[in-house]
Amino acid sequence: MAISLTINGRQHSVDLPEDVPLLWVLRDEIGLTGTKFGCGIAACGACTVHIDGQAVRSCQVALADVWGDVTTIEGLGQPGNLAVIQQAWIDHQVAQCGYCQSGQIMNAAALLADIPTPTDQDIDDAMQGNLCRCGTYPRIRAAIKDAAQRLGEV
Ligand code: FES
Ligand code: FES
Repeated sequence: MAISLTINGRQHSVDLPEDVPLLWVLRDEIGLTGTKFGCGIAACGACTVHIDGQAVRSCQVALADVWGDVTTIEGLGQPGNLAVIQQAWIDHQVAQCGYCQSGQIMNAAALLADIPTPTDQDIDDAMQGNLCRCGTYPRIRAAIKDAAQRLGEV
């Protein structure tokens, strides 16, 4: 039986087994490849998306268990209409290889929604599960702080 999902504001009807991970649905069924597969075991954060604004690891959420509206990196903003956090990422040239960065941004966006002016400790606590093999952590922290300041000025 097809399952109905709202992804980035659009309704989708997905006819796949109920236990297929959301990550596979997003990438292989819907074609939203901005969300990345890293480990498949909830250990890296590359697959982070939002469900009803909450950061989740889409490799660990079965299709039948998706409880709300899904937002991926493509839904956060698009060229010409980037989210503040995405623009901060560009301005700080955060990405190196880039593979982990959509997950980093999605996790950071959820952090700023929860804590608008995070301390270094808040950032470290929230972001520690999102791994970056390229070691971009200092730039990630700087971009989050910059985005927090810009959002506070809006
Ligand atoms: S791919 Fe989901 S946490 Fe690594
Ligand atoms: S930028 Fe390469 S893994 Fe993070």
